[in-house]
Amino acid sequence: MSKIQVMDHPLIRHKITYIRQEKVGSKEFREIVSEIAALMCYEASRDLKLEKVKIRTPICETYGEELSGKKLAVVPILRAGLGMVDGILKMIPAAKVGHIGLYRDPETYEPVEYYCKLPADCNEREVFVVDPMLATGGSSAAAIQMLKDKGVKYIRFLCIIAAPEGVERMKAEHPDVDLYIGALDDHLNEHKYIVPGLGDAGDRIFGTK
Ligand code: PRP
Ligand code: URA
Repeated sequence: MSKIQVMDHPLIRHKITYIRQEKVGSKEFREIVSEIAALMCYEASRDLKLEKVKIRTPICETYGEELSGKKLAVVPILRAGLGMVDGILKMIPAAKVGHIGLYRDPETYEPVEYYCKLPADCNEREVFVVDPMLATGGSSAAAIQMLKDKGVKYIRFLCIIAAPEGVERMKAEHPDVDLYIGALDDHLNEHKYIVPGLGDAGDRIFGTK
């Protein structure tokens, strides 16, 4: 069974509470989503492998540690996932970036695929899939299936807000994928929006409503 980690860091909790508020405009919303993503990346990368390396400081030779093992890729689910990419790249600047375009059909709530471009060596990388919202789980489950169909084996999913329904779907469809969740909310409403949630993440990031 994969890991499901709900963030307990006070900075993450504080920032999520702040952006939930209706009064927060796009500029601030975007900036704070990026900060939350960076902090979540810190938690989600805690078990990455290190190896011992010899270095020279201005004073002497010594041993330190550097990341070893598989290289990383970040794959945002468009559009809203784009808001998390900068924050992850601030922490892991060498990561490559792929994009998966999905939108939720407003009537069926099923994900509709419109774009997929991944790093050529994606199947050798550890992939962090990012999307601020895990609602029914349809979009994230479909995005992860697209990656698996291309041979990607090591996947972590990072979202800022999740509904229990989405977590259950991910557990059922992708039990091998670790989930890092900023806040676990109460339920979905009749329009499949997360309650209390933060509204439509894409619209709030890009100011489209
Ligand atoms: C939102 C969100 C997720 C999806 C979550 O995207 O960013 O991708 O909905 O819902 P689900 O778990 O029920 O699939 P949306 O479809 O609104 O597209 P957008 O990012 O382009 O606004
Ligand atoms: N997508 C969003 O952006 N917000 C929700 O609450 C659900 C799906």
